[in-house]
This record gives sequence, structure tokens and C-alpha cells, in this order.
Amino acid sequence: MGAGFWSPLSNPLQLVMTMVGLTAPVMKALPGPMVLYNEPVTILCQGPPDAEAYKIYKVEGLEPREERKLLVAGKPNTFSIQEMKANWTGLYHCSYERGVWSPPSGNLDLVMTGSYDKPSLSSMSGRVVAPGDNVTLQCFSRMKFDSFILTKDGAPQFTHRQSYTVQDNGLLITFYMDSVTSTQAGTYRCYGGFNKNSSMWSHPSDPLQLMVRGPAGWSVSPQNQVRLSLAGLFLLVLVVLVAEACYSHKRSFYGLRSDPYLSVMTNTEDTRGI
Ligand SMILES: *[C@@H]1O[C@H](CO)[C@@H](O)[C@H](O)[C@H]1NC(C)=O
Ligand SMILES: *[C@@H]1O[C@H](CO)[C@@H](O)[C@H](O)[C@H]1NC(C)=O
Ligand SMILES: *[C@@H]1O[C@H](CO)[C@@H](O)[C@H](O)[C@H]1NC(C)=O
Repeated sequence: MGAGFWSPLSNPLQLVMTMVGLTAPVMKALPGPMVLYNEPVTILCQGPPDAEAYKIYKVEGLEPREERKLLVAGKPNTFSIQEMKANWTGLYHCSYERGVWSPPSGNLDLVMTGSYDKPSLSSMSGRVVAPGDNVTLQCFSRMKFDSFILTKDGAPQFTHRQSYTVQDNGLLITFYMDSVTSTQAGTYRCYGGFNKNSSMWSHPSDPLQLMVRGPAGWSVSPQNQVRLSLAGLFLLVLVVLVAEACYSHKRSFYGLRSDPYLSVMTNTEDTRGI
């Protein structure tokens, strides 16, 4: 299958300086630019704190006949979509006003997921790998999608080397991750789609947790990192409590000034010593 893959999400981070020195704002989608059908999403235009007004546009139509549809003009720097539908997919950009209008942000490409049945994702290298291992993940789909992507929760979109195998009952796509490090630990999902509708993707595959062993044989996944920090915090609190208990015990034992009863005893001893 000579089907290539494309980068489905443009990079929204694009800083452009104008002659008056205004930087372009940054467009973001919350919780992310891949939105499940019927789910809400908020588009955010991030300008400086003293921006006076914002304009958020949706790009409609295709080049060279594309037009901008104005969605927001004024104070708010967000635009909320209550229920994601096919007609909300596509490119968005924005600018803000501070005396003059800023250059436009980079394009945000909003895509809709949940249009087709989910593929399944599995790791040929197991779920716990060692740093430096070459890891291969396989995404299988009964639908003959012509494009697949692999995403990692919380990470920006990136492309992976991949190869396709046509099987009797569907398509098998292999994603290659060479020499993994702990930064590649996380939750992965794959999606399938068609080139003719680059803004519509399948349901996500079930998530796949990849863990990368640390130097001492630790498995560090984001969840484990949180657990480890919590355990560390708990230990710290415990140490403080124990130290505190020891200290107050000592204090009453050696009769510091704050303990009237022991002060009396010390005084008796002093008297006896005379
Ligand atoms: C999409 O369709 C809905 C109605 O189904 C409409 O309210 C909304 O404005 C449309 N969005 C765009 C960008 O045209
Ligand atoms: C990983 O793959 C590269 C080629 O892509 C190869 O040179 C290297 O030896 C492989 N490493 C392991 C541990 O298999
Ligand atoms: C492809 O996208 C268009 C909108 O760009 C939509 O009207 C159409 O239904 C989509 N086709 C499929 C198969 O989902």
C-alpha cells in the first residue's frame, strides 16, 4: 500500500514579530485538538495579559477560495463548542488587539474522532521495556483506513516511522520507536482515517500503557511517578512527625523551662546539691 501519512495537526506555536513588536498569539484547544464526536471543546487564543480585544476565526473552504468566518470579536479569548460535529473540524486562527492588531496566530487544526470503529493497539515489545530498546507498536484495523496516527497522552503530535501490512481481515500498521528513553513512557492510542477526510478520525484504540524501566529496574510511568512522589511526601510527613514526637518527648524528659513539673524536680536536685 503506497499510502503515506501526513501530519494531521499543525504546530500552533508560531511566534511572529511585527514592526510594532506585537507577538502573534498562540491558539490551543482544551482539552486537546482531537475531539470525540458530540464532546465539548474550547478554543483558546493566548495573547498578553493586557490585550484589549480578540478575534477568533474559522477558515472555511479550500485554497485559493478560502474565507475566514469570524467567531469571536471582543473581550473573550475563548470560543466553546458544545458538541463536536463534522462542520466544526478544520483550521482556526486568531489575533488580539493592543493598540494595533497582532499578526495572526499559527493555525489550530481541530479534528473530530469517533467517526469510525476503533482499531486495536498492542506492543510487540511488551509493556515494560528497558531504556535503549527499539519498541514496535502495532495498530490493527478491520477497516481499510489509508492513514493511521499514534498519539501519546499529554504530548504534542509527532510522526513515527511506520509500515503497513495488508492482512486477510484488515490492515496492520507497525510504528517504530528506536532507542526509547523514559520520556517515551506513557499512554498511547492509535486512530485510523481516510485521506479524503483528513479532519475525521476513528474512535481511539483502547489505551496502551508503555513503561520504561529506570536504571535500578524501576518501572516509571506517569502514574507511578505521581505515586512515587506521593509516597515520598508521605515518608517526609512521617519523618517530621516522628522527629516532632522525639523532640517533645526529649523536651519533657530533660525538663526545659516550658515544663513546670520537671523544673520543680530540677530545683529540688539543685537544693540537694548545696
Ligand atoms: C455547524 O452546524 C450547527 C448546526 O448543526 C450550527 O449551529 C453551527 O453554527 C455550524 N458550525 C459552523 C462552523 O458552521
Ligand atoms: C535499534 O534499531 C537500530 C536501527 O534502527 C539498530 O541500529 C540498533 O542496533 C537497534 N537496537 C537494538 C537494541 O536492537
Ligand atoms: C467528509 O467530510 C465532509 C465535510 O468535510 C463530510 O460532509 C462528509 O460526510 C465526510 N465523509 C465521511 C465519509 O465521513
